[in-house]
Amino acid sequence: MALPEIIDRLVASPKFRRFSAGFLPFRPIARHRSKVLFDLMAGFVHSQILLACVRLDLPNLLLERPRSLSELARDTGLTEEAMTRLLKAAAPLGLVQKRRGDVYGLGPVGQDVANNAAALAMIEHHVAFYADLRDPVALLKREVPETALAAYWPYAGDREGVTEAVASDYSTLMAQSQEGVAEEVLDDYSIKGRRHILDIGGGDGTFLSAVARRAAPDTKLTLFDLPQVAQAARNRLTEKGLADRIEAVGGDFLKTPLPGDADLVTLIRVLFDHPDRVVAPLLKAIRSAIAPDGALLIAEPVSETPGGERIADSYFGFYLLAMGEGQVRTKAHHTNLLHAAGFSKVRALSSRMPHLVRLIEARP
Ligand SMILES: C[S@@+](CC[C@H](N)C(=O)[O-])C[C@H]1O[C@@H](n2cnc3c(N)ncnc32)[C@H](O)[C@@H]1O
Repeated sequence: MALPEIIDRLVASPKFRRFSAGFLPFRPIARHRSKVLFDLMAGFVHSQILLACVRLDLPNLLLERPRSLSELARDTGLTEEAMTRLLKAAAPLGLVQKRRGDVYGLGPVGQDVANNAAALAMIEHHVAFYADLRDPVALLKREVPETALAAYWPYAGDREGVTEAVASDYSTLMAQSQEGVAEEVLDDYSIKGRRHILDIGGGDGTFLSAVARRAAPDTKLTLFDLPQVAQAARNRLTEKGLADRIEAVGGDFLKTPLPGDADLVTLIRVLFDHPDRVVAPLLKAIRSAIAPDGALLIAEPVSETPGGERIADSYFGFYLLAMGEGQVRTKAHHTNLLHAAGFSKVRALSSRMPHLVRLIEARP
């Protein structure tokens, strides 16, 4: 038996567990490991405590000003007993913090949630994801006939279900997180000197709106998305006064020829929604459409990113499973697909938040 397997058997034995809890030098490790296990088992309880806080608007109420227990109970319609239970549960999670007497303010995690439209929208969106995860083995066996996430993102299936109302719903959710993602991508990747930037799967145009704030006035900006989404983008860009600056083109990237001659094509959080049988022809279409001196920039979570595995592989791995399609790819997997599509120079760039999105650039 190899050493790792000998260690597995030793450490997993109840006798060893008892010994390490009792043996002073081992005790901190034993305590730590038991807490890690408990946290993992209790993760769903913690996220429901977060949901309760968000539904009752606690983060925003406490951002306004610290409040007493009775004020919070009155403002949220809970009894004082129920509010006491919630505050006691939320404090160790960092959501709230006891300040003085029975007055509460925001905890460190609460500070990150308050005023954070992207986080608030995702927490509410997770209600559907949570329901889909009820039987994870059935999900893995693909025995769950209709998941809420597949209905939410119909383009992962037949694309027929992408009505304007559905598209506007998911585009709004994406737009809320896109504000932060767009600025991060643009802080990490220079668009200086580009003549024509084409954002494929550009949603409601939030990314290109951020590009418009930084690009030279004569840089052409084109958004490409499904017709219903492109129409919603046009409406949104008109509201923002950017309809003349950004052209929204409707089409299916598997069927419609892509707008030509872009010297920067961007795919922001697009590829991981799709299996290789969709990604391979899409990359080939981009390779044919891109200017010879152009570059393709991919920004999305990448599998096996050091420090980001719990987001890319654990979270998105199961998110895409519930959605019914898609895959978080390693850098090597992206590279293979890009080479097969005819790109020759592929490199991963450093980014500020690599656990959320990593940047991969490919050149013809
Ligand atoms: C996860 S969203 C990302 C949107 C945006 N890039 C962002 O990061 O917020 C994926 C986008 O790809 C678009 N999309 C999916 N399948 C498509 C297809 N076959 N043709 C064109 N666009 C598609 C969707 O409509 C959606 O706007």
